[in-house]
Amino acid sequence: MSIYVLYCRAGFEKDCAAEIQARSTDVEMFGFCRLKDNQGFVEFEVSEPEAGLLFKKIKLRDLVFTRQWIRLIEKLTDLPEKNRLSPILDVIADNKYGDLRLEYPDTNSGKEIANFAKKFTVPLRQALKQKNQLKDKHSKILHLFLFDSSNIWIGISYQSNNSPWNMGIQRLRFPSKAPSRSTLKLEEAFHHFIPKDEWQTRLASGLQAVDLGAAPGGWTYQLVQQSMMVIAIDNGPMAESLMETGQVRHYREDGFKFEPKKNQIYWLVCDMVEKPDRVGQLMCKWVMNSWCKEAIFNLKLPMKQRFQNLETVRNAMLETLYTSGKQFRLEIKHLYHDREEVTCLLRMV
Ligand SMILES: C[S@@+](CC[C@H](N)C(=O)[O-])C[C@H]1O[C@@H](n2cnc3c(N)ncnc32)[C@H](O)[C@@H]1O
Repeated sequence: MSIYVLYCRAGFEKDCAAEIQARSTDVEMFGFCRLKDNQGFVEFEVSEPEAGLLFKKIKLRDLVFTRQWIRLIEKLTDLPEKNRLSPILDVIADNKYGDLRLEYPDTNSGKEIANFAKKFTVPLRQALKQKNQLKDKHSKILHLFLFDSSNIWIGISYQSNNSPWNMGIQRLRFPSKAPSRSTLKLEEAFHHFIPKDEWQTRLASGLQAVDLGAAPGGWTYQLVQQSMMVIAIDNGPMAESLMETGQVRHYREDGFKFEPKKNQIYWLVCDMVEKPDRVGQLMCKWVMNSWCKEAIFNLKLPMKQRFQNLETVRNAMLETLYTSGKQFRLEIKHLYHDREEVTCLLRMV
């Protein structure tokens, strides 16, 4: 049996657990989860004939509710205050790693350990460097998952199938000129879904975009920042600062009825607060009609069984898309800046 620790947003443990159970069953790996509400992570114990098989069979990108995952090596408890380092170094032995990350659950109590984690990184990194155990190019990453200064879990992940961010969280600075905090959702989505070397083409200046449910303009702000021309659809008012850029046209229309005049739109983005199946089908319609090339949208999940509801919406979308006979890609992630919602990318390929 192996234990994997899956990090998630506090309050989403059941969704994270239901998802890993479903996806592992899909690849004929069977296990069970241990979790407590609001602890910010899930333990998944799985029977695997070969250590790390789960990492080979499932891609982190395909898991919606897991931010980061590690394969547990050891749970260290009651570490002696005067010498915490030795028991940790004993576990690490002579193994080599690409990098070291000190992490903790993304909860209020987890945050209390942040300062200790920062300080403790220094001697640990030094000790590993002295023994030549940190090698840039090594694909294995060493994770220490801290509960307090004496209870620390040790695990590993692989650079080819993990989140590059500490704790799986991409931290972004709120742009002070953006009209709403929602802006960070779209910025994070750009970083998550679009590889940096494709920004020049997929987020190129001059591209045309439509923003459904745009007011007051946090998402439009991101598109304007990329020098795009934006059609903003919303009955509510758009921030004056955005209208003054000359890059935004605002129409007070129903986002479900609006149709673009010419097929010149590259991006459709949508943050309308609506039933997720309705939004999902609207996005399929846009992409299948070639009204846009790519769509980034939010599916709001205010219900209890978020994973199960999302599966229903996703399956209905896939069914609709298959009838088009075209190739498409649908990616879904519960981003750090998402609350009771997930963010999706849909594009024809
Ligand atoms: C969460 S807010 C959008 C926030 C926006 N993305 C931002 O960053 O500032 C949802 C918006 O959707 C709009 N909305 C809801 N239903 C709509 C519809 N059927 N057509 C157009 N807009 C709609 C609401 O008026 C509201 O302004």
